[in-house]
Amino acid sequence: MQHIQHYIDGQWQDSADGVTFESVSPIDNSVIAQVARGSVLDADRAVEAARRAFDSGPWPRMSPTERKKILHKAAALIEERLEEFAAAETLDVGKPIAEARSKDVPRAAYNLRFFADFAEFTHTETYAKPWDQVMTYTLREPVGVAVCISPWNFPLMLETWKIAPALAFGNTTVLKPAEQSPLTAALLAQAFHDAGMPPGVVNIVQGFGPDEVGERLTEHPGVDLITFTGESTTGSAIMTKAASTLKRCSFELGGKSAAIVMADADLDKAVAGTIDGIFRNQGEVCLAGSRLMVQRPVYDEFCARYVAAAEALQVGDPREADTQVGPLVSPEHMEKVLSYIALGTAEGAKLLTGGTQLTDGVFAEGNYVAPTVFADVQNSSRIAQEEIFGPVQAIVPFDDVEDAIAMANDNRYGLAGMIWTTDLDTAHKVAREVRTGTMWVNCFFIRDLRAPFGGMKDSGIGREGGTHSEEFFTEAKAVVMKFTS
Ligand code: NAI
Ligand code: MG
Repeated sequence: MQHIQHYIDGQWQDSADGVTFESVSPIDNSVIAQVARGSVLDADRAVEAARRAFDSGPWPRMSPTERKKILHKAAALIEERLEEFAAAETLDVGKPIAEARSKDVPRAAYNLRFFADFAEFTHTETYAKPWDQVMTYTLREPVGVAVCISPWNFPLMLETWKIAPALAFGNTTVLKPAEQSPLTAALLAQAFHDAGMPPGVVNIVQGFGPDEVGERLTEHPGVDLITFTGESTTGSAIMTKAASTLKRCSFELGGKSAAIVMADADLDKAVAGTIDGIFRNQGEVCLAGSRLMVQRPVYDEFCARYVAAAEALQVGDPREADTQVGPLVSPEHMEKVLSYIALGTAEGAKLLTGGTQLTDGVFAEGNYVAPTVFADVQNSSRIAQEEIFGPVQAIVPFDDVEDAIAMANDNRYGLAGMIWTTDLDTAHKVAREVRTGTMWVNCFFIRDLRAPFGGMKDSGIGREGGTHSEEFFTEAKAVVMKFTS
């Protein structure tokens, strides 16, 4: 049994009040770790350490080149320890090990390297007005103490996506991982420690949100900015708390993204891409293409091929290398997903495959749900409007592209989307007219970290990535100089 502590001011520490909680594996719901349960006191200790490190420590005063050395060292340690990170992530959240090995862990290392390099080459502006004998140039300075609050579905990948730009641009940080996924955050803290990160620059506090360590971080006067990924309702709660001290906020929230398949699409690619679009990571993906709109001329054929592909997915123990769909993160979350499946049937959608919990053999003790496909779904129904966050697809037929665009926009979220077509005009039209943060054309999930990432409507506030992260994690200062003294 592992014992997981907070990492505060360069040291491993228990909670001030000694309280712990049990972390459970979704593979069989067994207890895998005792974890320090952070309270207000621990949040305060972590913020004070980060504050000291920012106000008088070396990190914000180093050059980006010096910071880069430590961040690259930490990235190298993550790569060296890839198997340990991947095994921990799989055990903690049920993510298929092949995904953790090939995607989540390498991407975590890349997040650190990318932002370390990016910060070194940050551009600055200069405005010369020789006729007034004056020149104005800008400095990009770190903002201060950055709080990073992350969810459980891509724990390490999203923790590093937040902490890497915060650090690269010279901020000090307090990271609070989701209570469902403490393990890889602790390994991340160790990697930073071993890479020689000065004390107080990276602090990791474990525990819950409301009334506990998470909420305290969002209202602490010593905190300057908050980057949060999670549910839209949580984003709203955090914003309320952050308002009295005017903290800068960047939120990546929920989604119900439309994947639009035109009759002219390459159906092999469209089926494979939209299967990946909902069943990857068991559907526990904010960007998931969880409303699948298919044009009527190919609707029946598409549905038949889609069901065959869903049934061919390998559901199993996520520690097995060939598993494609693992267990859902917790029994509570599985119940929520199953209740949406019951709702789909009640709403009159046609259940084509799946729809049940899997309970035989290796599935007996875990939270497994069969890949589920509904067809003939009304876009106005709750299974097409609400985020299920599980392996449940809702297929909606449409007549022409205008209908598809109207339905895609008829939703409170605007995080991502896909268009599958061989017609360039259609691709650009859909990309332009759907209100969403990211639109993939004939692909899914591919990211360029220089590009803006975030959501419209209830899917978020602000953008991160490349210069957008630079904007968020730095203060721009104007220095106005006379040419003559
Ligand atoms: P959640 O909102 O319940 O929790 C996320 C994090 O916020 C956790 O660390 C939690 O402890 C913390 N938290 C909860 N209440 C808090 C409070 N009052 N103050 C401070 N911290 C608080 O989300 P969950 O269930 O962990 O993740 C699933 C959700 O995240 C889904 O809705 C999904 O769409 C969204 N998500 C969005 C992504 C995006 O990039 N837009 C990426 C991944 C997930
Ligand atoms: Mg867990």
